[in-house]
Amino acid sequence: MSIKKVCIVGASGKLGQYMVQHCLERGYEVVGVCREKSVPKLAEFADRITIVPGATNDPEVIAKAVAGCDGVLTVLVPWGRQQYASGTARAVLQHSKPDARLIFSCGWHITKDGQDAYSKLFLRTVALVGWIARLFRVVDLDDQVAACRHIFASDRPWTVVRGSDLEEGPTEGLPVWSRHVGDPILESNMTRRIDFALFMVAALEDDALVHEAPAIVSRASDSAQAHRAVAA
Ligand SMILES: NC(=O)c1ccc[n+]([C@@H]2O[C@H](COP(=O)([O-])OP(=O)(O)OC[C@H]3O[C@@H](n4cnc5c(N)ncnc54)[C@H](OP(=O)(O)O)[C@@H]3O)[C@@H](O)[C@H]2O)c1
Repeated sequence: MSIKKVCIVGASGKLGQYMVQHCLERGYEVVGVCREKSVPKLAEFADRITIVPGATNDPEVIAKAVAGCDGVLTVLVPWGRQQYASGTARAVLQHSKPDARLIFSCGWHITKDGQDAYSKLFLRTVALVGWIARLFRVVDLDDQVAACRHIFASDRPWTVVRGSDLEEGPTEGLPVWSRHVGDPILESNMTRRIDFALFMVAALEDDALVHEAPAIVSRASDSAQAHRAVAA
């Protein structure tokens, strides 16, 4: 399916703004959803995109924003204790066109098939972050897991992009990916945020990624370079 119009759910955040930029560069018509108070963060794009202010887990907001869109790029964030991530995923799955390409962001901690091999340090860090988040009731990592389970169970053309640790900086090109955390190519565990966004946007037109949960890493990272040297 050719992509002409794209909705970005969570457009005002760091990842979202990079996705807006990439989509405009590709000539897509862009609709962005963000909280009312964050609309000013999209000022530099205001004359080139349509902004729908509102909570991303509000089905009415999402229904309005995704109408007529061939693709929906969703920043899945587990804020608060009111099922923000799963509410957002449900609204996008329910209201987008049946054949719309749906791309969701999350981190390596999400597993599609339970075959990811996590280091002890990674598991300890996720457990600690989850515990602190529950204590202060600011973030609900379990709800991001629930959101992804819901997506994985759907027969819609989805892709869940699992980001490594992120850093800022100029682009290093399209990240490489693998099906499972623990695969040697991913060992460096670092991607530029601008390239995470690039991968999300490129996935819109990559049918090989339908029903995949690619774990990504910078193509310039040591592990990606080493893997390519071995493959050659
Ligand atoms: N940070 C990392 O190291 C990392 C690593 C791997 C994967 N990821 C994934 O990358 C994606 C983007 O994460 P990010 O850390 O880079 O952040 P980000 O792009 O800045 O996105 C944060 C999003 O959360 C929204 N938000 C912030 N506070 C909120 C609140 N109280 N209620 C509702 N929404 C709120 C922001 O909207 P406003 O503009 O309205 O504030 C924005 O859309 C996520 O899916 C995350 O799981 C992140």
